[in-house]
Amino acid sequence: MNAPTTHRRLLKWVEETIALCKPKSVFWADGSQEEYDTLMAQMVESGVAIKLNEEKRPNSFLFRSDPRDVARVEKRTFICSVNPDDAGPTNNWEDPQVMKEKLRGLYDGCMRGRTLYVIPFSMGPIGSPISQIGVEISDSAYVVCNMRIMTRIGAKVLEVLGDDGFFVPCLHSVGKPILSPEDDVQWPCNPEDTHIVHFPEERLIWSYGSGYGGNALLGKKCFALRIASAMARDEGWLAEHMLILGVKEPDGKKTYVAAAFPSACGKTNFAMLQPPVEMEGYEVTTIGDDIAWIKPGEDGHLYAINPEAGFFGVAPGTSNLTNANAMASCSKDAIFTNCALTDDGDIWWEGMTKEVPDHLIDWKGKDWTPGSETPSAHPNARFTAPAALCPTIDPAWEDPNGVKISAFIFGGRRMNDVPLVFQAFNWAHGVYLGATMGSELTAAAEGTVGNLRRDPMAMLPFIGYHMGDYFHHWLKMGRQLKEPPRIFHVNWFRKSPDGKWLWPGFGQNMRVLRWIVDRTAGHTRAFESPIGWMPHYDDIDWRGLDFTEEEWNELMAIDRDKMKFQTLSHEELFLQLFDRLPKEMIFLRELLISSY
Ligand code: OXD
Ligand code: MN
Repeated sequence: MNAPTTHRRLLKWVEETIALCKPKSVFWADGSQEEYDTLMAQMVESGVAIKLNEEKRPNSFLFRSDPRDVARVEKRTFICSVNPDDAGPTNNWEDPQVMKEKLRGLYDGCMRGRTLYVIPFSMGPIGSPISQIGVEISDSAYVVCNMRIMTRIGAKVLEVLGDDGFFVPCLHSVGKPILSPEDDVQWPCNPEDTHIVHFPEERLIWSYGSGYGGNALLGKKCFALRIASAMARDEGWLAEHMLILGVKEPDGKKTYVAAAFPSACGKTNFAMLQPPVEMEGYEVTTIGDDIAWIKPGEDGHLYAINPEAGFFGVAPGTSNLTNANAMASCSKDAIFTNCALTDDGDIWWEGMTKEVPDHLIDWKGKDWTPGSETPSAHPNARFTAPAALCPTIDPAWEDPNGVKISAFIFGGRRMNDVPLVFQAFNWAHGVYLGATMGSELTAAAEGTVGNLRRDPMAMLPFIGYHMGDYFHHWLKMGRQLKEPPRIFHVNWFRKSPDGKWLWPGFGQNMRVLRWIVDRTAGHTRAFESPIGWMPHYDDIDWRGLDFTEEEWNELMAIDRDKMKFQTLSHEELFLQLFDRLPKEMIFLRELLISSY
């Protein structure tokens, strides 16, 4: 093996994996442009990828997945801690030894006829004290190319790793060896045997059977959230499912906030928000759209980095109207998965343009016209886009020290009862708000779309240990900070009884963001409501928006009886976590109920 490293633990692991998976060849990714171009050219040549029109979408490619492999699979995601109690009731658990034995059986010979790629990657700017290194072994060239956009990969990572640096081993196979020519399919996968497995004590990830998104790009949800959350608990930091954005005020002052919304609640749009033109001088800059790693600095404040280097965004619904910055980010050098193909070799998806093309090739490779019954792009179709191309990317987005976080925002998708914005009374109340967040179900979750599911801090599918311990960790972090960030709750999705959105959302959310930023600086008023501090109508910057006080009152209304009922319904989550639930949660619930 001609390995570009002398790291003994890494070499040993690669050798053991080769012996187990039995690939045809081994390839160490160096992360160069040349390597990316060669891999893409090979995939185009073999019909796995489609090169898009160079003029319309330079250096970009379209992939179509197997229709059985289109999203994260929570049912097949496991946290294999030694003790089942450490995974907690919100995670699937299996005994690590039992799981390993089962998976070793599946991995045995699983890469026959394929190339085993070794992908050293850094989550976060290379060499930052907040960053971490992983090495993914995968039998998918699609994974190598996506990892090159989503993380920093290759030779420079091995350099930092040196001879004995710490790394998280991430093993991935699509689970489809090429035993005969028919096995060499466009999107190899093995849905029956898919397993996404985490060993938190060992800081180890084993993924088998899926080539899609978070199942296969192991730096993202598997490492940066599930394994990193366990590391963060042990080491005194936070690994969160949060976007990070900066708000620049007309006088040039910059304030950074981190926000957690459940999947499919517009995190990418919020991270790249375009303020209304009338709010002259206000600017939103983007640090990240999905994950934040946050550490206390020596000054007792929290500093955050985006561990990723790209956006793996949901394509449908993204347009120049809803998110022109995301559109610009994938205008070139991008990978598209399960989008539709236009007749002139570009991509399209539902909601991209008002005008629907007369003819497309849909995500399954079939002819499509506006009369077709199914959407042209899969609802979970994705773009993989380099963060550096985002017009709003913050100049400090790769600052190894991270950016100082002044506020946390929690939000959900709630049609009823929950007002647009309010501020927690204190850190513990803020943790309570995050812990009891609720939202509608998403594509990856099992269940009836529209049903409310509790999604604490938007981490339900991503926490690598017991959710009750996670709440403890948040409370403890607050006690250790000199000045903990202020915590807010937002809900962009409230509807009137006749089903109309009460808030325009998108760029108009800047008005809420301004109030939040002003609150963190002590520059604006709020009144004490039973659920937290709230703005009066006059406390909001209304320049350029015709929004009456009456509309505001409906949007912000609190029905005390309904809130009491809402708060009582947190009991279901608390009962589930009862053996490790911090007592603060119970006291806070009682206090809240008593104030309605
Ligand atoms: C994502 C998710 O894809 O949260 O980011 O599901
Ligand atoms: Mn996410």
